[in-house]
Amino acid sequence: MKKSLTYFTAIVLLLSWFLFGSKKLSWFLKIQAEKSSEPCEFQTIFNFGDSNSDTGSMSAAFYPASLPYGETFFHEGAGRSSDGRLIIDFIAKHLGLPMLSAYINSIGTTYRHGANFAAGSSTIMRQNKNYFDGGSPFTLEIQIGQFIQFKSRTGKFFTKENESSFGKHFPKPEDFSKAIYTFDIGQNDMTDVISKMGKEDSHVLISNIVELFSKQVQSLYFFGAKTFWIHNTGPIGCLPLARPIHNAENNQTKVAGYLDQNGCVNLTNDLAKEFNKKLKDEVVKLRAQFLNASLIYVDMFSAKYELFSNANKSGFVDPSKICCGYHEDGYHVFCGSKQTINGTEIVPGSCEDPSKYISWDGVHYTEAANQWIANRIVDGSFSDPPLPISQSCQITH
Ligand SMILES: *[C@@H]1O[C@H](CO)[C@@H](O)[C@H](O)[C@H]1NC(C)=O
Ligand SMILES: *[C@@H]1O[C@H](CO)[C@@H](O)[C@H](O)[C@H]1NC(C)=O
Ligand SMILES: *[C@@H]1O[C@H](CO)[C@@H](O)[C@H](O)[C@H]1NC(C)=O
Ligand SMILES: *[C@@H]1O[C@H](CO)[C@@H](O)[C@H](O)[C@H]1NC(C)=O
Ligand SMILES: *[C@@H]1O[C@H](CO)[C@@H](O)[C@H](O)[C@H]1NC(C)=O
Ligand SMILES: *[C@@H]1O[C@H](CO)[C@@H](O)[C@H](O)[C@H]1NC(C)=O
Repeated sequence: MKKSLTYFTAIVLLLSWFLFGSKKLSWFLKIQAEKSSEPCEFQTIFNFGDSNSDTGSMSAAFYPASLPYGETFFHEGAGRSSDGRLIIDFIAKHLGLPMLSAYINSIGTTYRHGANFAAGSSTIMRQNKNYFDGGSPFTLEIQIGQFIQFKSRTGKFFTKENESSFGKHFPKPEDFSKAIYTFDIGQNDMTDVISKMGKEDSHVLISNIVELFSKQVQSLYFFGAKTFWIHNTGPIGCLPLARPIHNAENNQTKVAGYLDQNGCVNLTNDLAKEFNKKLKDEVVKLRAQFLNASLIYVDMFSAKYELFSNANKSGFVDPSKICCGYHEDGYHVFCGSKQTINGTEIVPGSCEDPSKYISWDGVHYTEAANQWIANRIVDGSFSDPPLPISQSCQITH
């Protein structure tokens, strides 16, 4: 499989040298410029990532998420790490498309408008952790492999004769190059980098992670993807479980400069910023390489940081508060689980009004926060180039 991919890559490279390394270049650019004022009218979304955009993968593969997860919008566990919808759900809604089904979920699904390969806990780099240690087998590389399989199998079963029945459930071959490919991954890689600090060089680790990410984007391009909407990673040092108030066992707390003016863990956010800077540089490089593709870098870090720093003004309670979960005195009872402490069984319920909280369970955002963030990013305010998502197929470079 690896071998045939390399072979394929070489052919595509040769082909693009032929196209771009000749007079056809100006002809191409002209076609692109004429197309560029049209809205993209995306019919299909393919998403890759971790729990920030998992709409049912880990629930289908392992144990289903159950209430209070999902309580706000779905009124049942809906495979999402939130009380309700995720940013990807609001993106789909904004584009006039239904919510994405997880690729590996087989019941009650539709793939007519795309598929979601994101899975909670997933990383870009392979991990040495199984599901029970908080790992995910669905690294970005596996997610891209699943997509390639999805594409080749839908192509195999599609024929003109059964277009009307097949087309109700799956994308048509021509939909793949017109689709938007969205990414939100890297957060769990940063957690991994933190755990290796002092043992491995974090700068080298982060560079390697970004390089692997780039390889996967290139692989999708060679399989026909044209529009890439890439979220950077959020301010993970602002998540309540990173903060000393819920992390009493962290003895670094009293070190000067440990927290920033918003109570976020400085070191953790600095790592996220380093990842984001390297990611942005890589996206810029890919643009120069793939003149025929649109690569949008979305600064989720800033959008989310703005929410943490303006929580009160935006109608949210203290951003260090957690809606569901017990995290005090060095005890951690996660939302959805239970534990006996000093003879008392603790089963964390959820807060009275999740719409007032930024954090659902200490790590994941509430539906209200997700909606707040989605509203800010879809119009292009945090994008480079500053295109709204509905026009992100335009090639501006
Ligand atoms: C570039 O895009 C055009 C229009 O979608 C397509 O016809 C052409 O094959 C693409 N070229 C490459 C090298 O991918
Ligand atoms: C479409 O037709 C092909 C070839 O006859 C067949 O293999 C496939 O199962 C059909 N798919 C559907 C959804 O009917
Ligand atoms: C925190 O604890 C570790 C080992 O448990 C120790 O090596 C380190 O010096 C401590 N740091 C501070 C600031 O006390
Ligand atoms: C947080 O880190 C930044 C850069 O690493 C530094 O400039 C700033 O002073 C730190 N914040 C605090 C509160 O010390
Ligand atoms: C915002 O701050 C004000 C003043 O401290 C307080 O009265 C109000 O309850 C806060 N809003 C929320 C949603 O917590
Ligand atoms: C459990 O008991 C110990 C000892 O009495 C006490 O220090 C601790 O605060 C208690 N913890 C909880 C969560 O009740």
